[in-house]
Amino acid sequence: MITGLDHIAIAVPDLSAAIERFMNDFGLEFKGTEDVPAAKTSTAFFPVPATQIELVHPLNGEGAIAKYLEKRPGGLHHLCFRTDDIDADIERLKAKGYVFLSDAPSKGAHNCKVIFIHPKSCDGVLIELNQPCEDH
Ligand code: CO
Repeated sequence: MITGLDHIAIAVPDLSAAIERFMNDFGLEFKGTEDVPAAKTSTAFFPVPATQIELVHPLNGEGAIAKYLEKRPGGLHHLCFRTDDIDADIERLKAKGYVFLSDAPSKGAHNCKVIFIHPKSCDGVLIELNQPCEDH
């Protein structure tokens, strides 16, 4: 079951500059960075009431975000819905014809379980489903 909008992710070509902007120019609380080797990204989180903004930057210059940034200067990358049962939601949505980018969830930031739905299933928007780990 979907329980909330977990975060909005922005692909950024310069992570430090973007952190400075969100922290100092926009005055948001900075929760620190985390590298997610499985996703080949460096992430930075800024919680705001009800959701948070995620900056995503290529880790070691490779991965899906690197490819994204080769074609664009940056941009709104995906929406993430929080779920309390990711496996049930995957099964439910697959049955409705949704196409996923992987067969099973992988590990995301904060140790959560994540999976992405192909943009072609959602009017061109990349949608992430995210089940937080038990102690987060
Ligand atoms: Co995300």
